[in-house]
Amino acid sequence: MTSSIRFLMCAPDHYDVDYVINPWMEGNVHKSSRDRAVTQWQGLYRILKDRALVDLVTPRQGVPDMVFTANAGLVLDDKVVLSRFFHKERQGEEPYFKAWFEENGFTVYELPRDLPFEGAGDALLDREGRWLWAGYGFRSELDSHPYLAKWLDIEVLSLRLMDERFYHLDTCFCPLADGYLLYYPPAFDAYSNRLIEMRVPAEKRIVVDELDAVNFACNAVNINRIIVMNQATDELKQRLQSLGFEVVETPLTEFLKAGGAAKCLTLRVTEPLMPLHQAIATVESRTIQLEGHLLDSGMINRALDLIVEGGGSFQVLNFRLGEQRNSTSSAEIRVTAPRHDVMEKIMSQLIDIGAATQPQEVCDNPLETVEMDGVAPDDFYVTTIYPTEVRVNCEWVRVRNQRMDGAIVVSQTPDGPRAECKLLRDLNQGDRVVVGIDGIRTVRKTESREQRTSNDKEFSFMGSGVSSERRVELVVEQIAWELRQIRDRAGKVVVVAGPVVIHTGGAEHLSQLVREGYVQALLGGNAIAVHDIEQAMLGTSLGMDMKRGVSVRGGHRHHLKAINSVRRCGNIANAVEQGLIESGVFYECVKHQVPFSLAGSIRDDGPLPDTEMDLIKAQQDYSRLIEGADMILMLSSMLHSIGVGNMTPAGVKMVCVDINPAVVTKLSDRGSVESLGVVTDVGLFLSLLTKQLNRLTHRYDHLQLV
Ligand code: ARG
Repeated sequence: MTSSIRFLMCAPDHYDVDYVINPWMEGNVHKSSRDRAVTQWQGLYRILKDRALVDLVTPRQGVPDMVFTANAGLVLDDKVVLSRFFHKERQGEEPYFKAWFEENGFTVYELPRDLPFEGAGDALLDREGRWLWAGYGFRSELDSHPYLAKWLDIEVLSLRLMDERFYHLDTCFCPLADGYLLYYPPAFDAYSNRLIEMRVPAEKRIVVDELDAVNFACNAVNINRIIVMNQATDELKQRLQSLGFEVVETPLTEFLKAGGAAKCLTLRVTEPLMPLHQAIATVESRTIQLEGHLLDSGMINRALDLIVEGGGSFQVLNFRLGEQRNSTSSAEIRVTAPRHDVMEKIMSQLIDIGAATQPQEVCDNPLETVEMDGVAPDDFYVTTIYPTEVRVNCEWVRVRNQRMDGAIVVSQTPDGPRAECKLLRDLNQGDRVVVGIDGIRTVRKTESREQRTSNDKEFSFMGSGVSSERRVELVVEQIAWELRQIRDRAGKVVVVAGPVVIHTGGAEHLSQLVREGYVQALLGGNAIAVHDIEQAMLGTSLGMDMKRGVSVRGGHRHHLKAINSVRRCGNIANAVEQGLIESGVFYECVKHQVPFSLAGSIRDDGPLPDTEMDLIKAQQDYSRLIEGADMILMLSSMLHSIGVGNMTPAGVKMVCVDINPAVVTKLSDRGSVESLGVVTDVGLFLSLLTKQLNRLTHRYDHLQLV
């Protein structure tokens, strides 16, 4: 023995694999040999005994994992934070360890009941004493970390474990003397890896590969320059040697069957206090409120998943379940995140799905002033498509011009406070912009079970499902019905269409929709107009004969001839007036005063004089034409449809038709109930749609006759 370093161990008298609480134990129940375990344990004991003091705690019957003394608690100086085991299988160990610590003069701290924390298995001191690394994700709860910081007066760095094979921090992470760190990065999430990289310089990080990781090379006991472990590859041993460490291997395979090795079998009980460190817990908590059909709509699951996937943890403080089928439920949830930036990210996603931060907490949103035209303050809140409210003078104020990806500008007017969405480029110096995530809520329509499943009366868009071929006809019937309703009440339908509409023979059907008053605005690019006009003038679309379905010799030149003719006339309307264009979608638009906007792009031929090549102007045109829309039909045009989606607030029904399921998913996946995707050929879709509308008209006329 050469030092005053002291460890606590527990002989394996009652050791066995009796149950399964981690993946290593699976398939190993009662498969370990007691004799071999004893021999291996003694091997480790002797190695440590030669180099340090080893105390023993009496093994007890019925708690076979008590050999893993690392999980007894977390020691710093004369204090110990006792473990609260996550699994009931190990909770029986708690009183034995508690008694040992008390008998040995430690001040014992106990966490609240139901707040799991598994001691030095999940909390490892930096060997220079600068801070405490603490794991969470499987056994220990993130909410325990602030207690550690407070009681032990030390900075706690929270690391999130992601791989269930490495369920305790000490299975994949081992701080070494001199600021070195032996660890397996894939066991952690990206945030944690970044934190590790920020604290430990590259030359001090010793990354192990999977082979060493699964042999528990990181589950090592470090005494100054000696590292005791189950096994390491030659490569790892050499690397450690070159850094001045001596690796001592001792087989612990019987304990690997329970998911533990050298480090787990020991608890260092002399952890001297080092000067200079200070208690900082970066862990943050906040309470949010959820209200609505939380179970029916899956909102509660979405919220909790989002918190965990975002790297946080939660505690449900309150859950009031609506008793009647149509009464809403409410929940109060405490969200905990390891750091401020993680919290901000989680909170903004929670706001997106309709959560509110405690309103009494915030009377006014934090605002920051725009210092440069067109540039928002760094921390500005990015808007969504959902109706949003912000806190001004202790009241909720509805944001105007709601759209996605904007900033919220708050101003005081003689009529009271005003909040509105602005695009970055429209921000002016001096504008006051909402920053952070305090005092913001989105108002989501609460959907009951009935609303989600009914498809009677009003039009129901069947969730935001993407329909398969079989459902196309059913969907077309519903859309036709809705188009009819909107027309009858003088509502507004906007069509966004790509050139595929023309190539697939949809021109005549879309023309009919325009002619019969089903379309109030048409949005597209240069190409749809070019090919529509090419077809009207020359009978081809991109050189294909649309009647016979074959390509015409020299046909690829047709569309340029068409462009040229329109250019001579000055614009499409003139070309129609002068009789150059006598049919087609744009002919009908001109004839029936349906406004259209063509947004240009880098690939445009010509372009047509009507095509707006100033994209900011084009976006403004689009957004003006979308205003007040009841429904938007997106027909095989990915780029222009995405553009439209971004400027459309929630509440507008959107139908996206494309032959490519990926496009449909992308467009209809706005998390809003009103969007519907249809995967099919757009020409076919339009022909079914007009057929159905004709049928409806027939039925109406017939009804009027009788
Ligand atoms: N079977 C034990 C468990 O799953 C093994 C504990 C290993 N200890 C450790 N500090 N990693 O709890």
